[in-house]
This record gives sequence, structure tokens and C-alpha cells, in this order.
Amino acid sequence: MKNPTGSACGKIILFGEHSVVYGHPAIAVPVTALHADVFIQPAETLVISSRNFNTEYEILKNPLNKNETGFGLQETVLNTLKFFNLLKKQNIHITIDSSILPASGLGSSAAVAVAIIRALSNYFKKKISNKDLYDLAFKTEVIYHGDPSGIDPAVIIHEKPVYFKSGKKTRLEPLKVANKIPIIIADTGVRSSTKEVVSDVKKARASDKDKYDTIFSEIIPIVHRVRDVIEKGNVSELGRLMNENHELLKQIDVSSPELDLLVESAREAGATGAKLAGAGRGGHIIALAEDNVQKISKALVDAGASHIFFTEIV
Ligand code: PMV
Repeated sequence: MKNPTGSACGKIILFGEHSVVYGHPAIAVPVTALHADVFIQPAETLVISSRNFNTEYEILKNPLNKNETGFGLQETVLNTLKFFNLLKKQNIHITIDSSILPASGLGSSAAVAVAIIRALSNYFKKKISNKDLYDLAFKTEVIYHGDPSGIDPAVIIHEKPVYFKSGKKTRLEPLKVANKIPIIIADTGVRSSTKEVVSDVKKARASDKDKYDTIFSEIIPIVHRVRDVIEKGNVSELGRLMNENHELLKQIDVSSPELDLLVESAREAGATGAKLAGAGRGGHIIALAEDNVQKISKALVDAGASHIFFTEIV
């Protein structure tokens, strides 16, 4: 098959989801086994099509409004063409083909946005810095997620484990991994909207600020400890920290029976630790699998995981 004109990997948040929205640190890692690919070919007019959803949008003839599926794709393309001063060059067919499941915490929307921007940059031979790439992809994240922290495009663009903190000055620090970290990622099969979960947490925090801020403040030292562990190599301790972070996420009501069942099944089968990963209420869990990979995988499938895969953080 032809090489894509642009592509981007998936990602998973290891620690610090939700608290990162309030300016606290988080750690995320790329998942390079998954990727969004974008192909560009000359065409009569501007067409965006998605192989995954079997959709095709002729956005000049029928511009999409913000409630329509595909609006985020349209805006990513138009914002990028505008950025490159190419709004008049609209005779291209953009095809998206992604192996990243949407609404499951694997960074699908950010990866598709980054892949589209990279594809347009490559196709028109226009250079773009990582900072401008991030700013453009962040605009798409706002369309899909409302009030995102920005961690998804950050880790996807850099394709390295990152320590991330948003704020007036975003802190994005790539991490050196001392020892490989073996992780099983398991899907509950339940799709969940990051926008809705983030908005629910925001509402709940507005009515009980002390409770939520106390929980977020307990997540901060966990993330700092994780950074230290990743950089120094005491992998087993990550398991204990995963368990602690999961308990705190339960307290802000973003877990679900399906997530808890997978987390418990992984631990019982020998995972050093496990937690939900990402917005929660559905999507994936991660389990630290230093040994017993087969046994943990089987336990997860028996507990109802719709899909599992193994990855090593390096
Ligand atoms: O579900 P995901 O992987 O898209 O992660 C959302 C992470 C949050 O912290 C809940 C939101 C954000 O913008 O960081």
C-alpha cells in the first residue's frame, strides 16, 4: 500500500488524568503500534473522506456545521490551509485511515489532527515547527473536548513519554525511561465521551471544591514519584502508584463497574498494579505486567475486555 502523506501515533495517559485539566502535572506515553494515517491526492475540489466511518465530505459544496460529525476534520484542514496561506489550493482529496479506536482514551482525535496537519505540510512542502503543529492540533482538541489540557497532542507530536503541565507556560518534558515498562492495555468495550466526563468533573468540583482539590493535590506527588521511578528504573513501584491513582480517580467518580472489574481482574492475575487510563467511565485500563503476561491477558478477556494489547514503554 502507498505510504501515507502524514501520520501520527496513539497515546495513553499513565498518571494524572483529570487533575491535569486544573494545571497539575501528568505523564503520558505514545502507543506507536496504533496510528492515524492520512493520504492526499490531487482532486477537482476539496474532499475529506474517512475509511473508518465510510464518510465523504465535500466541504466547499456542503460546509459542515459544528454539530455535525466531520466538523473537527473540516476545521483542522481549513485552519491548516489558512496557516500555510494556502486557502486557495483546495483541489485535494484527503483520506483518513486510523487504527486508533475513537472515544476510548487512545488519542484518536489528536492523532488524526496531527496526521492531517503533517500530511498537508508534506504535500505542499511547507515546514511547520512542533510548536505551531501543537497550536493547530490544540484547536481541534477544543472542538472535540471543550476544555482539553493539551496533553494528547503534546505526547503524540513528540512520540516520547512526557511529563506535562498546562498553564500560562506549558511544561513539556520528555522523559528518559531507565528500564522498559511492560504494560497491558485492555478495552472495556464501553465508549465514553471525554468532553462529557471532563464537564461532569468540572460541575462536581464547582459544588465541592475542597473535596476535588484535595484529591487532585494527592495525585500531584504520585505523578512526581512516577517521574522519578520512570527515570531511575524501579518499575515495580509503578504498580503501587497505579493502584493509588486509580483509587483517587474512583473518588472523583470517573471509574465504572467495567473499569473496576478489569482493574481487579488484572491485579488478581498477578499485575503489579492497574488503573483506568484517560477520561474514564469507559475506554481502557492499563496494567503493569512484569510477569504473568499470558495469565493477566486471559483474566482480562475472561472479565469481559473487548480487546487487549501489550506494549513496552521505552
Ligand atoms: O480519555 P483521554 O485519553 O482523551 O484523556 C482525557 C484526559 C483528561 O485529563 C480527562 C482530559 C484532558 O484534556 O487532559
